[in-house]
Amino acid sequence: MKQDVIIRYQSVRKSFGSKVVLEDLDLEVYRGEAFCIMGPSGCGKSVTIRHIIGLLKPDSGRVEVEGHDMSKIPPADLRALRSRMGYVFQEAALLNSLSAGENVALPLRETTGMGDGEIREKVHAKLALVKVPDVFDKMPSELSGGMKKRVGLARALITDPEIVLYDEPTAGLDPEISASINELMRELATELHVTSVIVTHHVGTVRTVADRVGLLDDGKLNYLGTADSFLHSSEPRLVRFLGAKPD
Ligand SMILES: Nc1ncnc2c1ncn2[C@@H]1O[C@H](COP(=O)(O)OP(=O)(O)OP(=O)(O)O)[C@@H](O)[C@H]1O
Ligand SMILES: [Mg+2]
Repeated sequence: MKQDVIIRYQSVRKSFGSKVVLEDLDLEVYRGEAFCIMGPSGCGKSVTIRHIIGLLKPDSGRVEVEGHDMSKIPPADLRALRSRMGYVFQEAALLNSLSAGENVALPLRETTGMGDGEIREKVHAKLALVKVPDVFDKMPSELSGGMKKRVGLARALITDPEIVLYDEPTAGLDPEISASINELMRELATELHVTSVIVTHHVGTVRTVADRVGLLDDGKLNYLGTADSFLHSSEPRLVRFLGAKPD
């Protein structure tokens, strides 16, 4: 079957100063799939997904989202495209001057004409979904790292985006909460056909959420395949990589 490609990297190269992070990255993400990116710390996973929302531009090569070249997309089209995407930052990146609830509400206030009551209702529903139902009026400084992480997740999901980029969504969360976040990501993919790109160090996330996995190292994908073949591979380097990972 011919797959519908929603995100495409073509020979992407990205350096910072003399440090080459992405050397020659080719990758296609299919509409509706959950794609996990794994790889050692510092290999460029966050850099890779930042290209999808146009926060970074390649030095050479191209990144396309929905057929748009992200280096050339006009500002109005970029805004429209971004309104269909959610981004879960590795560091929750909440605004410290706003309550948790107002942080989550922000995308709705900025992009819709929705009234206050409706916004509150939606925010409460999303906070409940990520298992922090009672933090609406708390300030970020009053929240634990794991709670901030989940508020960041609620903010990414508040507009019901079609594409969600998750940067280590379960890092620092206890196993039970991690499992519930994994289930949530799987539900969004299965029931709402959300295209999901998930950076993770957790094998449990690959096992429960991923359709395919890419292993990033030395600036390119060193492995690309289905989650099943990744998890059950007998290739020594994959066995070694997986053996060193927490569940
Ligand atoms: N804006 C930037 N300016 C300069 N260097 C950067 C910038 N962003 C990333 N880097 C460098 O690019 C490399 C890859 O960073 P990146 O954050 O993508 O790693 P990562 O794979 O997400 O690691 P981790 O698993 O620790 O989150 C690192 O060496 C980092 O220092
Ligand atoms: Mg990172």
